[in-house]
Amino acid sequence: MQVFAGGIGLVQHIGVLTSGGDAPGMNACVRAVVRMAIYRKVKISGIMRGYAGLLAGEMKPMDLGSVGDIIHRGGTLLRTARCKEFYESEGQERGVRRLQEAGIDGLVVIGGDGSFRGAQALMRHGISVIGIPGTIDNDIPGTDYTIGFDTAVNTVLDAINKIRDTATSHDRTNVIEVMGRRAGHIALLSGLAGGAESILVPEVPFDLDVVCARLMRGHNRGKLHSIILVAEGVGSAVELGKQIEQKTGLETRVTILGHIQRGGSPTATDRIWASQMGSRAVDLLLAGKSGLMLGVRRGELVEVDLDKAMTERHGLDQELYQLAGILSI
Ligand code: ADP
Ligand code: F6P
Repeated sequence: MQVFAGGIGLVQHIGVLTSGGDAPGMNACVRAVVRMAIYRKVKISGIMRGYAGLLAGEMKPMDLGSVGDIIHRGGTLLRTARCKEFYESEGQERGVRRLQEAGIDGLVVIGGDGSFRGAQALMRHGISVIGIPGTIDNDIPGTDYTIGFDTAVNTVLDAINKIRDTATSHDRTNVIEVMGRRAGHIALLSGLAGGAESILVPEVPFDLDVVCARLMRGHNRGKLHSIILVAEGVGSAVELGKQIEQKTGLETRVTILGHIQRGGSPTATDRIWASQMGSRAVDLLLAGKSGLMLGVRRGELVEVDLDKAMTERHGLDQELYQLAGILSI
């Protein structure tokens, strides 16, 4: 790790914000940014409510105590928001002015791909920015992992285990809808870990008759329950549940897990990566770097070009998808 004598890099005052959907582990990441900046003797300010707070000038200087007692908490102490004005160049220019007025010359953006597009806009106006992927969806290109994904998968797994208990008692089929409007990563990983009979994701077309035939095969050989995991991007789980019951005659219940997946105390994995990414972001800014996103590739912390990453897509792990299908035969 590079060591700086303190405040001698190009950047003198770092700002940090969380934006888009919150994710467990964002707090651990903010803590790491703040504490590493203080360790390196640069000024650090928290910007509240993402780009909305930036435009409103909602910023506060952070000290060691500002981030005490948050490493284990879900949500984000900096709060978060979605901000329509920031899609327009007028809003982005106002954001740049707000940063300049506050003397902030380096920014850490923790959020999803939308937040990174906002970050790209700021970069085009000459602001130094480092992105940190924070979203439960794990749908950011350039990285295998995003902060919050591991906690969300474990939350879903806990729900699957509980639903499985009651499903077995009643000999029922349970459809469980998880988050992921455009991506099935949560459904895939929790479905594989939870032994789901079928995993339905937006990336893979499916035939409901095939899903139902698989359910009937299991039922006919004495299976006492079946779990169908559905990513929200596939469509209405309630409707799917109705169709499955009609086609198979099996008693079916539907559970939509919703925002329960976005909260809760982050897992060790999320806290550890969040801590590493947050502190690396500070060191990159102090080394005069900008336009990079931190990520994890094959278990290693990596720095990737943000512009390049934003032109790619984080596809579903097809091997894992096939494995889940084989093991739940
Ligand atoms: P996430 O970061 O979780 O993907 P959003 O897509 O809602 O969440 O994006 C968060 C915020 O980032 C938006 O409300 C908006 O302020 C900003 N943003 C998103 N896309 C763009 C864009 N194309 N240009 C500028 N800002 C954007
Ligand atoms: O992007 C994260 C996410 O949790 C998606 O999985 C979900 O579709 C969406 O945010 C829900 O967003 P909200 O309820 O905050 O508008």
